[in-house]
Amino acid sequence: MKDPDWRADEETLDRIGRMPKVELHLHFEGAAPPSFIRGLAKEKKVDLSRIFRPDGSYDYRDFWHFLEVYEAATSVLKTPEDFARLCRAVLEESAANGVVYSETFLSPDFCGGGDVSAWKDYLLAIRETAEEAERDLGITLRGIVTAIRHFGPDKARQTALCAAETAGDWLTGFGLAGDEKKGKQRDFTWAFDCAREAGLRLTSHAGEWNGPQEVREAVEDLGVERIGHGVRAWGDRAVVDMLAEREIVLEVCPGSNVFLGVFPSLAAHPIAKLRKAGVKVTVSTDDPPFFHTTMRREFEDLAKTFHWDEEVFDELNRTALDAAFCDAATRDAVLKRLEPK
Ligand code: ADE
Ligand code: ZN
Repeated sequence: MKDPDWRADEETLDRIGRMPKVELHLHFEGAAPPSFIRGLAKEKKVDLSRIFRPDGSYDYRDFWHFLEVYEAATSVLKTPEDFARLCRAVLEESAANGVVYSETFLSPDFCGGGDVSAWKDYLLAIRETAEEAERDLGITLRGIVTAIRHFGPDKARQTALCAAETAGDWLTGFGLAGDEKKGKQRDFTWAFDCAREAGLRLTSHAGEWNGPQEVREAVEDLGVERIGHGVRAWGDRAVVDMLAEREIVLEVCPGSNVFLGVFPSLAAHPIAKLRKAGVKVTVSTDDPPFFHTTMRREFEDLAKTFHWDEEVFDELNRTALDAAFCDAATRDAVLKRLEPK
């Protein structure tokens, strides 16, 4: 039994920060550094000054304004080549923070407006760049096509058809993100059934803004095996027990939740309590530059706040890799990169 008074010293914290990491929840456009978007806006002569603060960071008031700023930033990503450049920038940043395996949410809505043939061109450009980065940065990426809830169920059907057409060893999952206050999980059953039939694995954002019932509905109505966030399940013990029993994996993004005000502080965040209750939790950044975070910072802040040691982070990485939407050969290769050298 570990000493409850154990605290990581500076050296241990540094080791934890430098550990290899597995990340399951990263919005591709949300990972765009503000300088990257500013540069693209300048090249394309688009005035995006309203979405930046004087210090160069993204400027927004709350989650709903964040979604607007996100879509404005995304509007300068217009071609497969733009997305390829973004892919390189995102993977360089992730690799610099020790990420060895990452899954990213991609939206055909932003890549060709939901047209299947255009989507294929965007996906190819992203995948080719990711494969090149894998060779020279040692980071493996897989894609999850993601419908956007506030764009509605009809758009989600189109998105699911794009996903089904490109499902395979690289595009391995289907999900739902966006404004949880709009519509219900069950409005998206057609899209999720279509994705499942194409062999895609499923995740949905739930329990970031809505309560435990939203998490239950994602599991029961859409049949997902992972939940984006899911942290507000903590309000209902029966939902927490259901998650633990069914081994549903939560893609927890603590820094995002604190930055957006879902919880007032990391100390008040339920990740440690969910883990103790037997729920499979993992750690991700969500939209790192928007929330001034990195995977390294997430690990260090969790270590400081909850006095977690390297063993706990190793467990979180392995939980994430077990739940990763990749094939067994990829999982085995990444597992080797998690072993201490
Ligand atoms: N899209 C990008 N980031 C998101 C978040 N945190 N929740 C829902 N949709 C998102
Ligand atoms: Zn998210």
